[in-house]
Amino acid sequence: MNRDEIRKRAKELAARLTLDEKIDMIHGAQLFSTGGVKRLGIPPLVMSDGPMGVRQEFEPDRWIESGNNDDFVTCLPCNSALAATWNRELAEKTGSVLGAEARGRGKDVILAPGINIKRSPLCGRNFEYFSEDPYLTGELAAAFVRGVQEWDVAACVKHFAANNQETERLWVDVEVDERTLREIYLPAFYDCLVKGGSLTVMGAYNRLNGEHCCQSEYLLEKILREEWGYDGVVISDWGAVHDTEAAGRSQLDIEMSVTSDFSEYHMADPLKEAVKAGRVPENCVDEKAVRILSLMMRLHMLEGQERKRGTFNDPSHRKTALEAAGESIVLLKNEGSLLPLSADRCKRVLLIGDNARRIHSGEGGSAELRALYEITPLMGIKMALGGNAKVDFLTGYDAGGKKADDGRNWQEKSLESGEKAEQAEREEASEERRAALFSRAVSAAGDPDYDAVIFIGGLNHDYDSEGVDRSDMKLPYGQDGLIAAILAARPDAVVTLIGGSPVEMKEWIGAAQAVVWTYYNGMEGGVALAETLFGRRNPSGKLPETFYKTLEDCPAHRLGEFAKREKVVYGEGIFVGYRYQETFGVEPEFPFGHGLSYTDFTYLEAEYVEEEGKNFAVCKIVNAGKCAGAETVQAYWMRENGEVAAGAKRSGDGRKNSLPSRELAGFGKIRLEPGETGKLRFEVRKVPDGCRLGIGSSVKDIRLTLIPGE
Ligand code: BGC
Repeated sequence: MNRDEIRKRAKELAARLTLDEKIDMIHGAQLFSTGGVKRLGIPPLVMSDGPMGVRQEFEPDRWIESGNNDDFVTCLPCNSALAATWNRELAEKTGSVLGAEARGRGKDVILAPGINIKRSPLCGRNFEYFSEDPYLTGELAAAFVRGVQEWDVAACVKHFAANNQETERLWVDVEVDERTLREIYLPAFYDCLVKGGSLTVMGAYNRLNGEHCCQSEYLLEKILREEWGYDGVVISDWGAVHDTEAAGRSQLDIEMSVTSDFSEYHMADPLKEAVKAGRVPENCVDEKAVRILSLMMRLHMLEGQERKRGTFNDPSHRKTALEAAGESIVLLKNEGSLLPLSADRCKRVLLIGDNARRIHSGEGGSAELRALYEITPLMGIKMALGGNAKVDFLTGYDAGGKKADDGRNWQEKSLESGEKAEQAEREEASEERRAALFSRAVSAAGDPDYDAVIFIGGLNHDYDSEGVDRSDMKLPYGQDGLIAAILAARPDAVVTLIGGSPVEMKEWIGAAQAVVWTYYNGMEGGVALAETLFGRRNPSGKLPETFYKTLEDCPAHRLGEFAKREKVVYGEGIFVGYRYQETFGVEPEFPFGHGLSYTDFTYLEAEYVEEEGKNFAVCKIVNAGKCAGAETVQAYWMRENGEVAAGAKRSGDGRKNSLPSRELAGFGKIRLEPGETGKLRFEVRKVPDGCRLGIGSSVKDIRLTLIPGE
């Protein structure tokens, strides 16, 4: 059935519904489900979080886990990790695993992926998002969506739009100019909804230029429906609707929330009353019902249509989880080819750091889930080295326990204060304990009997978490001092960091020879890390975001505002991440697109070709090193700094009308055996007049430059 036929059938069906029945369909009747209409064979729409796997089951009307032990699932790498693979096929394959598992668990809508722009390293939900760059986000997230929807399950891209901080997330008003919205914050939504065909989208909690996103005329009517012609279903974030009439009239289709007074939701009894009293036209409700019914037809939910059944925990899903985890690991630094370590020569190994043994999958907010298992780095390394090696472990720092809370689930309380009040306060370890852990780890690190010392720290979901933003970019628990001391005692110690956002490294980065970064990498994360450290896998991840030297270098903090409670002004405009760094000459610790390999790639030549209205870069590359590996080749529009400065001068404030000196225009990934030369062809966005096309290995490492038309 095509779009028109589907709509026609949906309209016919909707015409048979009473007002009560339509109202039942457009609001939560359970915490994760709408109401159905039994009389006409219309089932409820069943949803679940989230990006890394299908969340555990809750009771229908209480935030209490069902406890049936039937909801353990495949835990995939987080969206930031997927972005670090720069691999569209893998993003699609990973999406397909999530879709199969969602369907396998009986869901109709999976509340993923999260595609907000990583504007500041401090946003608590950064790990659920892809990148600071709209093009990279759009390409990978749209592929992910296509994968999910192979399974008669709808993706729900979230959170539309400009939901870039957790602080006061229900009320904060984001002030951002039109150009910036169009260039930075909206394109990935367009890519996922229009090009990727995402069947649903979730409205954000925050306000945008004064309007709450879930009832916004500008976002939902003008942009989404009128400009983009989107006819999918708009679902509110849980508790993001504030006004019955505004929501009723708006293009929002389903209101969800966290409370169990379902008939009191704005789009339940209050809307019914408003319709009856003539304050909201009934055809607004009809439209919502028609869109929901169209979605159900597309998902083969109606009229006894044959529907895919999906499955969860299929062994092939775990293979994909490992593949994605493996490709996402980023080798930031590797002086003197310290890595990979030789497994044969490692007879005694010391691991230091809480993240070596930490299980992350059950935490972080709505992205939590019950993983079938999660292999920690410590376990992965022990599995890789086997019983002839002795692996010792010391925490080195105290990552704290959480204080007991009042037993209520955080989400249940999430509307109460606008913040995750439920976030239990962190228990600080005593000074003596910290000192003892520190000195034990540092003196052990200096023991020459160890063949290798590996630090595995970073962040965890006490920091990368829904409902709270980080307060600074520093590593928590005194890790900076600890890493510096470990490196002083053992200069060849390998530093591995796990997290969802960049951290400051300036205290020790100069002394470190080898640094590995991994995002939350799912159930096979420990295996992928061990394979990388010991050379069974050649890293090919690239940073999907700028690693700033300090927080002050981040444009959101230097030129704009972040984490203010009433209003945040995005004063940096379009100059997010590398766009700012490159244009204004600010050195990052590690640039966007950076990631090393155990082999070397030489860029031989490149061409820019136009074919059938599309543009391509064709690059010839040789693997000049000693092992097989993969390289992500990146293409950037490049503008002379002079032009930017001139634009800046004209505009008076250096930002409003000026253009960034570099913008990602395309990318592709190529795998080569040692000595092999290969040709990689990938699509690039049409190069604007006056720009050259830089081809390289990161935004800062441009190897070849093309002048289109020459
Ligand atoms: C989050 C959403 C999530 C929803 C349902 C909200 O708190 O912002 O991302 O999908 O809860 O759990």
